[in-house]
Amino acid sequence: MKRLDVSLEDVQEVYAGPVGVLWELLMGEEIHVGGWEDTETLAALAGVTGNARILDVCSALGGPARHLAGRFGCRVVGLDATPKMIEEAERRTAGAALSHLVSFRLGDALDMPFADASFDIVWGQDAWCYVTDKAQLIREAHRVLRPGGTIAFTDWVQTGAMDDAIFENLHRFMVFPYTETVEGYALLLEETGFAVARLEDISSSFPAFCREYRRVLTTTLRDQICARFGEELFRAAEQGIAGWIDAAVRGQVGRGRWIGWKAEE
Ligand SMILES: C[S@@+](CC[C@H](N)C(=O)[O-])C[C@H]1O[C@@H](n2cnc3c(N)ncnc32)[C@H](O)[C@@H]1O
Repeated sequence: MKRLDVSLEDVQEVYAGPVGVLWELLMGEEIHVGGWEDTETLAALAGVTGNARILDVCSALGGPARHLAGRFGCRVVGLDATPKMIEEAERRTAGAALSHLVSFRLGDALDMPFADASFDIVWGQDAWCYVTDKAQLIREAHRVLRPGGTIAFTDWVQTGAMDDAIFENLHRFMVFPYTETVEGYALLLEETGFAVARLEDISSSFPAFCREYRRVLTTTLRDQICARFGEELFRAAEQGIAGWIDAAVRGQVGRGRWIGWKAEE
């Protein structure tokens, strides 16, 4: 599989800076495609209850963590590698009076700072595309889950062949080292010891979401983005999103959703 030389430091720089703010302006504080509705869907499929101990891997601003805790009364720990995201997530969680249920840890998804079997559900939304070694991420998820626990996640994926120039443009813009495929993630889950309960290609709605981000960027947000971050960033964002729309329409990129179970001992 092709890869870009993108490091964790590159991704931390994105989320500590203007582009991280841009993603929130476009998507809301749940920084994934489909917003709160997508969180509801994943929660239903994962079987979230009030008793669950959930680990949100790559939790960013903590929007989904607060959503889950507020809705179900469950405990959620968010793990993220960018200090600014952790600070902001903690501040917003205190503001929402949810700190008794939701906490955050600074750390790398490839070396999770948690003991074995600490969680009932490992959760992720549209973020593992940033991670440089998806197999190691899935192994860590398996380790920190209790036997019988659930892994539930969505992610941006590659759905069709593309030439090197398109691969480079799409991934460089997003600062993704590479994107998995729907089947590729299923294989990684199986190889790690998960039973794959569900794998879904949910790419059909992806172009419409990307078009909407572009519309909001070029209308409502245009002046604000140019004033705060400059014309150059605005243009780069517009072109980058346009590239993703074209690739999505050509069937080269999209999104997937997976649910897996760790075997009971
Ligand atoms: C798109 S945002 C995540 C959005 C979040 N899942 C949500 O739905 O609101 C990506 C986040 O992944 C984090 N991240 C990327 N690579 C990471 C890694 N190896 N370990 C921990 N966090 C990482 C970034 O710091 C960033 O906050």
